[in-house]
Amino acid sequence: MLSQQTIDTVKATVPVLEVKGTEITTRFYSMLFEAHPELLNIFNHANQKQGRQQTALANTVYAAAVHIDQLEAIIPAVKKIAHKHRSLGVLPEHYPIVGEYLLKAIKDVLGDAATDDILTAWGEAYGVIADAFISIEKDMYDDAASVEGGWEGFKNFTIAKKEEESSLITSFYLKPADGEKLPEFMPGQYVTVRTKIPGDEYMLNRQYSLSTSYTPDYYRISVKKEAEQDPNGRVSTFLHDELNEGDTLELSVPAGDFFCNIHDEHPLTLISGGVGITPMYSMLKSIADKNPDRPVTFIHAARNQDVRAFGNDVQETVARLSNGKSYIVYEQEGLDGDFTGFINADVLKQAANLDGEFFVCGPVPFMEAVIQSLTAIGIPAEKINFEFFGPAIAIKTE
Ligand code: HEM
Repeated sequence: MLSQQTIDTVKATVPVLEVKGTEITTRFYSMLFEAHPELLNIFNHANQKQGRQQTALANTVYAAAVHIDQLEAIIPAVKKIAHKHRSLGVLPEHYPIVGEYLLKAIKDVLGDAATDDILTAWGEAYGVIADAFISIEKDMYDDAASVEGGWEGFKNFTIAKKEEESSLITSFYLKPADGEKLPEFMPGQYVTVRTKIPGDEYMLNRQYSLSTSYTPDYYRISVKKEAEQDPNGRVSTFLHDELNEGDTLELSVPAGDFFCNIHDEHPLTLISGGVGITPMYSMLKSIADKNPDRPVTFIHAARNQDVRAFGNDVQETVARLSNGKSYIVYEQEGLDGDFTGFINADVLKQAANLDGEFFVCGPVPFMEAVIQSLTAIGIPAEKINFEFFGPAIAIKTE
């Protein structure tokens, strides 16, 4: 238990640290990786370069600190991050290392303003926050290893098939090298893929949604090729251009809290933009396989036909539902879609099933626009689920 004095000190200094948040965490990462370069096997180097992880970690530590006397308020946020930590192999022994360098960075950036009292209070608070993560992650590690077909850490998968879905998106069918049956997952969940590019010193990790319904003998991911010069594009370019059928990738057990319960009865509207279609198609197909009477509306936005993935698959799958509908929204004019332009309140009023639950996935500006439109037509926030690919960042929903 933290003393009231510690809580007061932490809360009183949150605003100062918030102002310096990005500076502190940038300093933190540079010192951390200098002392512990092996952690570069876990962290996404592209996120470091773009400053995205810096903001994510800073935001979360301060959000946690504000709620330090009632941490249960942030448990859902902790769980979301814990899923990602578990899928990446973050372990209890990593927490003291991160804590040590976070405190060093606070001291470095704040200088004399960081008194011993302040540093001690933050050290204790970090310990409490870290314990919350460690205990939630322990349960997740136990589940991943004990679920039927589960495993610890990473295991080898062979690329059994590579299939082009559009000019930008290619599917990879991944079979476990040991031939074991795979654990079931919830549609919408992702896997962490780990690989090493020849000539690189460190492993690279990326999360990809599972892009079809569960089968015991393979997982499928569908990867958009990002620009090679974009640091985020290194793994996708490597997968697209260098890896072939027969090659190996490492995977950890599926993770994530963005999923739908297949067996619910209430209507569902699945809204995706671009490669955000991957978890949505997994949800659609899982419902068609297991609960085909559930009303499902599938709305997908793509720039044009060339970059649209799973066009025929969506039509065939929707046809298997007794009450299914699908709409395509092309951004470019003059194409044969159901709507032209962007998904807005008008499109949603005409196409979505307004009585049910909503899942939204795509790039940030797309999701912000869709969530704001849903809100504008009166859909309550608790009916809207969304997932952005990449570190959790603040999504503007109003
Ligand atoms: C991701 C917070 C400890 C490694 C994240 C994210 C947040 C976060 C907010 C982004 C989640 C998302 O992408 O959805 C925290 C907090 C910690 C903590 C508050 C301490 C209490 C650690 C530790 C490690 C670690 C000890 C391992 C050494 C990572 C990695 C990612 C991540 C590798 C994925 C993003 C990337 O690679 O840049 N963490 N974290 N974290 N965290 Fe942590």
